[in-house]
This record gives sequence, structure tokens and C-alpha cells, in this order.
Amino acid sequence: MSYPFLLALHSYTRWLVVISLLWTILLSARAYWNKGPFDKKAQITRVVMVSLIHLQAVIGFCLYFASPIVKYFMKNFTATFGDLNISFFGIIHVLLMTVAVVVATIGTALAKRAEADAEKFRLLLIYSIVTFVIIFIAIPWPFSPLAQRGWFRPF
Ligand code: HEM
Repeated sequence: MSYPFLLALHSYTRWLVVISLLWTILLSARAYWNKGPFDKKAQITRVVMVSLIHLQAVIGFCLYFASPIVKYFMKNFTATFGDLNISFFGIIHVLLMTVAVVVATIGTALAKRAEADAEKFRLLLIYSIVTFVIIFIAIPWPFSPLAQRGWFRPF
């Protein structure tokens, strides 16, 4: 897969990740307060959310080794470290997103293993909020103080 294709794919999958996280937060918050059952819908929500995050991470790692920005960062490590436009994609984005992937993986696994339905929703809610906050900070939104990219990238 070419670099421009991977970049556009990674850019669009971001929306699926963000929407699935928001959906998981809403669903688990509502079910937790209403003492709802951890039914098939909740189970599917949990699996889809963590799978989308894993898919995005796999695309991200492929992109990491294809990106000219990252290559430039690796070659000129000391000179570019202070330049956020370069070091954001060279190190900050990757580190924060990897932490988010680990948090989401642990949270969904704990929710799966918990006995009581309320505990499943509580764990899913807390871990999804933490994952969402980290991902939100690490996305190069047009308004981000760290690095800026467009809302949509054409293929
Ligand atoms: C898991 C959640 C992640 C989300 C939501 C996410 C989101 C994004 C977004 C929105 C962009 C900007 C795309 C554009 O320019 O239009 C981007 C760029 C990038 N991401 Fe991620 N990302 C994630 C994880 C990762 C991971 C785990 C890696 C690497 C290990 C990674 C590597 C990159 C790289 C290298 C770029 C910039 C490439 C370039 O401009 O040359 N991402 N990411």
C-alpha cells in the first residue's frame, strides 16, 4: 500500500475510532446508571470499539515506516526534536496512541471478565473515557496546539 493511501485511510479511520468511543461511553454510562443488562448490543459495542482501535494502530504502524516526516525525524533526531511539526509525528503521536491502545485493550478485557453487569459497564465507561481523552489529545485536529491536519484527507 502506498504512503498517500495509508495516510488517507488512517485519516478516515480516525472518525470510526472517535465515533465508536463516544458511542461506547454513552451506552455504558446510560446502562450503568439505569442498571441495564450487559446484552448482545453492549458486547458488540465493546468488541467493535477495541477492534477499530487495533486496526487504526496497525495502519498507524505501517504509516510510521512509510512516512517521509518520520524518516526525516529519524535522520535528524537531535535537530528536529524541538520542532513540534516533525517530532509530533515522530514520537508524541505514536507514544500517546500506543498508551491509548493499551488502556483500551486492558479496559475491554477487564470488562469482559467482570462478573456483575454493573461492574462491566463501570469498567468500560472509565477505560473508554481515558482512552478517548488520550486519543483526542493525540489527534492532529485543525485546532490542536501540537500539530494540525485537515478534517478530511482525499484519497
Ligand atoms: C489509535 C488511534 C490513532 C488515531 C485516532 C490516529 C489518528 C491520526 C490522524 C487523524 C492523523 C492525520 C492524518 C492526516 O494527515 O490526514 C495521523 C497521522 C499519523 N499517524 Fe496516527 N492515529 C492513531 C494511531 C497511530 C499509531 C499507533 C501510529 C504509529 C505507530 C500512528 C502513526 C501516524 C503517523 C506516522 C502519522 C503521520 C504520517 C505523515 O503525515 O507522514 N498513528 N494519525
